[in-house]
Amino acid sequence: MQRKQQRPLKVRELLNDIKPYQAGKRVSELKDELELEELIKLSSNESPLPPTKLAQKAMRLAVSQLNRYPDGGSRMLVSKLSERLKVPAENIIIGNGSNELIRLLAQVLAEPDDELVMAWPSFVVYPLVAKMMQAKAVEIPLADDRHDLKMMAAAVTDKTKVVFVCNPNNPTGTIVSRAETMKFIKQVPSDVVIAFDEAYFEFVDSDDYISGLELFSDYPNIVVFRTFSKIYGMAGARIGYAVAPKELVGAIQKVREPFNINMLAQVGAYYSLDCDTEISRRAADNLKEKTFIEGELKRLNIKFAPSQANFIYADMGKDALVAAKEMQKLGVIVRAFPDSNYVRVTIGTSRENRRLVKILERYLEDNNSAPTRF
Ligand SMILES: Cc1ncc(COP(=O)(O)O)c(C=O)c1O
Repeated sequence: MQRKQQRPLKVRELLNDIKPYQAGKRVSELKDELELEELIKLSSNESPLPPTKLAQKAMRLAVSQLNRYPDGGSRMLVSKLSERLKVPAENIIIGNGSNELIRLLAQVLAEPDDELVMAWPSFVVYPLVAKMMQAKAVEIPLADDRHDLKMMAAAVTDKTKVVFVCNPNNPTGTIVSRAETMKFIKQVPSDVVIAFDEAYFEFVDSDDYISGLELFSDYPNIVVFRTFSKIYGMAGARIGYAVAPKELVGAIQKVREPFNINMLAQVGAYYSLDCDTEISRRAADNLKEKTFIEGELKRLNIKFAPSQANFIYADMGKDALVAAKEMQKLGVIVRAFPDSNYVRVTIGTSRENRRLVKILERYLEDNNSAPTRF
């Protein structure tokens, strides 16, 4: 049989601009490679603790039902969240991680050449979803490691579809104040979505914090993203949710996969919500450990941003990629921010944090200096 003329496969041109997510090496693999006795992973803002005991038990029981598809509407979880958050069920949607919901929001709102406004540096997924939609990521530099809401409001144009407010911000851990937020909300037109990403809100202890949920019933353009990946210790299960105007929930329902939330994640999240005492204890422990690390960073003269989350953004006094590699050789994996001197370190267990301090001391000795001023 005669073969057809060979023509190369072509993927969409916009993908040439997008780098695939680079999964890091497995910790055990890296540990062997570096011939370390211990290597701690403080690079992904995960919880150092597993899912709560109740969530684990419920998920174990659910394993025997995995021959069935999960509830495609995650209805039990939606109904529980609706009661807890005092928001109608029609305003709640569950995602395969909040990451998926951020993408789906962009997918249902952004046309090519539209604009998505965001602070920078902030969560890396926002510019990525803009690119995927052939929209423009308008990145407004942080001021003193915090969102510059004034500049972000000023950046809104007729083409803007979404303004992301990452609160607390990943990677700096900083929050926006109540007064700033109220002013900002009034400046942004009501047909532009203000998306509050609250992946870390459970860790916040500042009185000046305002959740988008407090504003939700008064403004028609508020979206709030939350996740079970952080304080609930369920990052590996992939589940988060959004509270959003019902037109947006309806639009996202049209484009999401029918069974995007697996059964174990649904069950685990549902029962995690019954563990408030345990979750409050986790937040208190995080605060205690964060205070310890911040004290040590001050002692070591390492500059850092004031974090309200479960991670700290610290200036290592030299190129972050080089610094992170050196720290890795000493036994800790941190996240480096290219073209800066900053690394992000997740707060771990008490033992891991004490080990981190020892590693920082060694790092400073090896570098012969205290890295930066305070
Ligand atoms: C600010 C922020 N939003 C959203 C996410 C996504 O979380 P997930 O998809 O695990 O719910 C992360 C994860 O690191 C994050 O830092």
